[in-house]
This record gives sequence, C-alpha cells and structure tokens, in this order.
Amino acid sequence: MTAQLIDGFGRVHNNLRISVTDRCNIRCFYCMPADHVQFMDRKHLLTFEEIQRCARVAAGLGVNKIRLTGGEPLVRRDLHVLVNMLTSIEGITDVGMTTNGILLAEQAEALYAAGLRRLNVSLDALDPVKFREVTRRDGYEKVVEGIHKAQAVGFDPIKVNAVAIRGVTEGEIVPFGQFARETGVEVRFIEYMPLDADNAWERDKVLFASEIIEVLSQQIGPLEALPNDDPTAPAVDYAFADGVGRIGFIASVSQPFCASCNRFRLTADGKLRNCLFSLEETDVRALLRDGAEDAAIADAMRQSVAAKWEGHQINSATFVQPDRPMYSIGG
Ligand code: GTP
Ligand code: 5AD
Ligand code: SF4
Repeated sequence: MTAQLIDGFGRVHNNLRISVTDRCNIRCFYCMPADHVQFMDRKHLLTFEEIQRCARVAAGLGVNKIRLTGGEPLVRRDLHVLVNMLTSIEGITDVGMTTNGILLAEQAEALYAAGLRRLNVSLDALDPVKFREVTRRDGYEKVVEGIHKAQAVGFDPIKVNAVAIRGVTEGEIVPFGQFARETGVEVRFIEYMPLDADNAWERDKVLFASEIIEVLSQQIGPLEALPNDDPTAPAVDYAFADGVGRIGFIASVSQPFCASCNRFRLTADGKLRNCLFSLEETDVRALLRDGAEDAAIADAMRQSVAAKWEGHQINSATFVQPDRPMYSIGG
C-alpha cells in the first residue's frame, strides 16, 4: 500500500495546485486590488527545482494530478521548462494549467511540446468593453486568439472559466452559451467567492448557478446534467439537450463541494494551504532552503492535509476572509 494524504474526514488528496507567481498582467476587480498591488519579493518565489522537488515528494504521497496557477502562470519566464520537469515525474499523470490566456498564443506550442494538455482559460466576458470593465486592462482579442491557437495546437480539454457576478456579467450568459455551442469549448460559470483583495465581496453580488441555468434554458434551450465521471471535480457539467455545447457550474457558494475535495495548494512563496479559505499555512520554503530531507517535506504535507477543516464557512455568520487574496493563492 503506497502512502496517501488523507485528512480527518477521510478525503484522499491526490491533486496539488501549484502557484508559480502572484504577478499578473491584468487586474480583475474580484481578485486584485484597484491599485498598489504588493507582489512577492522574487527571492521568495520557489525556483523550478524547488517546485519540482515538492511535486516529486507529493507524488510519493499519492498525488498524480497537478494544476499550475498564478497570479498569471504564463508571466513566469520559461514556464514550459517547469511543465517538462513536472510531466517527467513518475506518478504524475495529469498536468494542467489555469491561465488568463493573454500570453497563450505565443506560448501554446512550447507548452504542448512540454507535455501540457489540459487548459482552463479565465475569460469573464465576450464583450470587449465588459472585459475591460472586469479586468481593468485591454487584452480581450489576445485571449480569444490564445484559445483558438490552443485548439489548433491540440490542447484537450480546453475550458473557459467565467466568474459570474450580479450586476456585472448577466449579459454574458447567453453569449457564452452560444460560444460553447459554436466552439466546442466547455464554458464554466464560477460563483464569485470572497477572495478579492479589496474585501468588497457581498453575497448579493453572487450570480447563482441556478439562475444561470434558468436563463440559458429559456433563451437557448434546455440543459441536461451529464453523468459525473469525477466526483472530486468542483464543476457540475451540463449539455444542451440537442447535444451541442457543454456548460459547467462551479457553485462554491450555493452548492459547496468541500465534502469531496481532493485538493491542496502550494503558493508561489512556498506555503502549503489545505483549503482556498484556510487561515493557516505550512511553510515548506524554509524546509527546502534549510537543507531538510524529503521526509521532512512529506511530513509537512501530511501535517497540512491532516489539519484540514471540513469545509469553507462562506455561508456562516462567523466567516473570516483569508488575508491572501486569490491572486496570491492561485485559485
Ligand atoms: P479541472 O477539473 O482539472 O478542469 O480543474 P479545476 O476546475 O479544478 O481548476 P480551475 O483552476 O479551472 O478551477 C476553476 C475554479 O474553481 C477556480 O475559480 C477555482 O478557484 C475554483 N476552485 C478550484 N478548486 C476549488 C476548491 O477546492 N474550492 C473552491 N471553493 N473553489 C475551487
Ligand atoms: N471568485 C471566484 N473565482 C475567482 N477567480 C479569481 N478570483 C475569484 C473570486 N473572487 C477565478 C479566476 C480563475 C481562477 C483561477 O479563479 O477567474 O478562473
Ligand atoms: Fe489575474 Fe487571475 Fe486575478 Fe484575474 S483572477 S487578476 S487573471 S490572478
């Protein structure tokens, strides 16, 4: 029996999300502060070798799935080199990346050649004006170009992640439904979560999955739930009844999926987080830089996962938002 990372609720953790930088080339308001972003000191970022070592130790504990995140992962120079270092680890069978897509067109070929196959592209609006309102930057055309390029290069699956925010993105629901039907790319609507840097999240701003289903069903056609082939995935997937167009929902607020969580996180500055919303972290950077043995890093991972709580408390009156906003955790 190989070692496994199992928490106090029996959840097996085989999925490590690795943030490679907190820097980003856009400024989505639900994530980044409006101004004065304080990025990590570069000397605190784990090197590729340090990340690879953590991934190798994690693989020895049963981790087989890795997702690279940011900030924006593609602003980290030579990311394809890291992808290659991770896909070559024994036991790692699945390396994916979540990107905002701005730099995707120029890096897609190198990433594919390095072994990356699964891509999730964050895109909250198909209207360029709305895109700018959400991201506070230009770049819509580059993201769309990046998605097309990734399709041409052969990435599969490619999914689009669209954060759904009341008062902001209602008008994007139907265009995204049509986009899913026309391109074959699955579009996943994500309920807005309290992880923004400006602490401006309010429950009233969450556009719920049930409301989006209603709009799509009425304006495009009925949606049918697809069989759930991965009970640990955050998204619940649907297809239009005619079989054309897949739509997913990551309903973290209205339908939390913590009970089946298999994920833990390594931040760009080398801290383990057992939940997006955890208020405590485990420092592995100090271990890596103090000459610790692999066994000590494995112990830190076991300890982090063992301390995981049952689920997030977004819906509780005593909810405390973590100090780290999304761009510094990685999503
Ligand atoms: P695949 O299933 O491999 O396609 O990836 P994924 O859906 O797990 O990854 P992705 O980075 O695309 O995640 C999409 C959204 O789901 C992001 O906004 C994440 O923050 C959110 N998400 C991912 N994991 C969790 C989680 O453990 N808890 C919560 N609440 N949200 C999560
Ligand atoms: N709520 C929900 N999703 C968010 N993301 C970033 N901030 C938030 C938030 N406050 C999403 C991004 C990306 C993923 C990494 O996390 O849009 O798809
Ligand atoms: Fe950057 Fe992602 Fe935050 Fe948008 S959500 S500002 S892409 S880190």
